[in-house]
Formats: sequence, C-alpha cells, structure tokens
Amino acid sequence: MPAMDIRPLEGVGAEITGVDLKALSRAEETAIRDAFAEQGVIFFRDQSLSEEDHIAFAQRFGQINVNRFFAAHPDYPQIAMVAKDVGDTDNIGGGWHTDHSYDEIPALGSVLVARELPKTGGDTRFASMYRAYETLPDELKRAVEGKRAIHSARHIFGGQDDSYYSQSDAGRGRIGNADAVETLSDVAHPLIITHPLSGKKALFVNPAFTIGIDGMDEAGGKALLQKLFAHAMREEHTCRFKWEPGSVAFWDNRSTWHWALNDYQGQRRVMHRITIEGVSR
Ligand code: SIN
Repeated sequence: MPAMDIRPLEGVGAEITGVDLKALSRAEETAIRDAFAEQGVIFFRDQSLSEEDHIAFAQRFGQINVNRFFAAHPDYPQIAMVAKDVGDTDNIGGGWHTDHSYDEIPALGSVLVARELPKTGGDTRFASMYRAYETLPDELKRAVEGKRAIHSARHIFGGQDDSYYSQSDAGRGRIGNADAVETLSDVAHPLIITHPLSGKKALFVNPAFTIGIDGMDEAGGKALLQKLFAHAMREEHTCRFKWEPGSVAFWDNRSTWHWALNDYQGQRRVMHRITIEGVSR
C-alpha cells in the first residue's frame, strides 16, 4: 500500500489515503488524530471494516455513546443504524446539525461507515465551524461574545405530536425511545468554544438543536441565531462527500455540521454510525 497521504479539501475536511483502519500503526493513529482535530472531518476510501473493526477504530478515540434514540444494530448496540428503505420517504439527519449538542458534554465525533448505498444520491454535506468563526463579521463576533446558547433534544426526538421525528416516517421504527428525552435537561453551551484538541475557536450552535440564547428574549435570540446559521452554512465553508462502497467518514461534532441529503427516493441506504463521547471543558 502507498504511504499515508492527507489531502485537505476545499471548504472543510481532508481525504486520507494509504491507510488500513483495521491495522493502524501508532504513527498513523497520531496523524489521523491530528488531522481530525485540525480539519474537523476526515474521509477514507476502500476500507473493509467489519462491525468489530468499526467499534475498535472508534474506541481508539474515546468511549462509545450508545445512542438513546436511534435503532441499534441487532448484534452490536454500540452501532446506531442510519437507514432508509425503498418505501421510506424521510431520512435521518436530513438537515444541518451536529450530533448530541444537547448533551451536557457534547460528543467528540461520529464514525460513519457506508454499508448499502443508493445508485444515485445520498451524499453528505459538511460545514466547518472553525471557518464559520474565523470569517464571522466583527459585529456578529461582538454580538456573541461571552454568550451561551441553549440546546435541546425535545423538539426533535420528543414524543409530542409536533416533534420532528413524530412527524417523520423515520419516527416509525428507525428513531424511537422518545421517553429518553425526559432524562435530558436543556443545556447551555458557550457560543464560541475553544476546541479541546486543536486549541482553535469554533462557532458552537446548529440549526437542529440550538433553540435560543441565554439571557435574550425568544425573538432576539432566534434572530441572532438565524444570522449565525446563515453565515455558517455559506458554501465556502462546506464540502460534499460522495459515498462509495468502503467509504468511512469521521467527523468532529464540536467543529463541524453535517447534513445527509435525501435525494434518493425509492432506493435503500444503510449506514452504521458510532458516536464517541466528548470531554468536559
Ligand atoms: C447523520 O446525521 O448522522 C447521518 C449522516 C448520513 O447518513 O450521511
């Protein structure tokens, strides 16, 4: 196999070639860790990971979070199923978000392995929250200085009729356990975080789970969030990943957003996701 190569992409992320994720040397693992921290999302091609390999790779980076809401792999509860079948209309993760920002300690990241892909469509978009922060206009930087944003899982995963997944066919078997929302309180996180691995600053809000700003009235908080979201999702902060058999993406939930495109109606797409616990700041 040719030597490991890390090629940064435009917008966000890097593609890493010349490495077998089942058999990493210490030096390769260190290089992957550094690229992950620096780039926010890293992509691998032509891997052949069994479920055990997937779990072992994720465990190199931290403890696995067993997802509360996603249907689990029947044999490996650590693996959350991100699936859409031929008769389903809605996908999972079909809007800009970052996983688990509603947790007291936001997740470190997620490792997604392609298992069954549609013939066309089903790409995933990613956005860099490092770039979003770096390019934030001064007036917005001043507006968010020292502020904390409120994150919640309730309106997405809750059992009430108007929650996102109650209204989606993904809520019929693929996403469930809505009662777990009751064990979660809404949390406040700084709007600007210093990334624990890279030391870089990142904008830490997202359109799915961030519902307001601490100390601001609802309308004012939402208006400020809308400006931040519009800035963060600018095309130049993003990339679009085309999945192939053997593709793996490992994204940082603290410094990126992602969005699974739902443009493959009538086809099946099955991905295995493992989310890794974060660290307290
Ligand atoms: C997710 O939001 O975790 C799923 C991403 C994807 O299916 O591409």
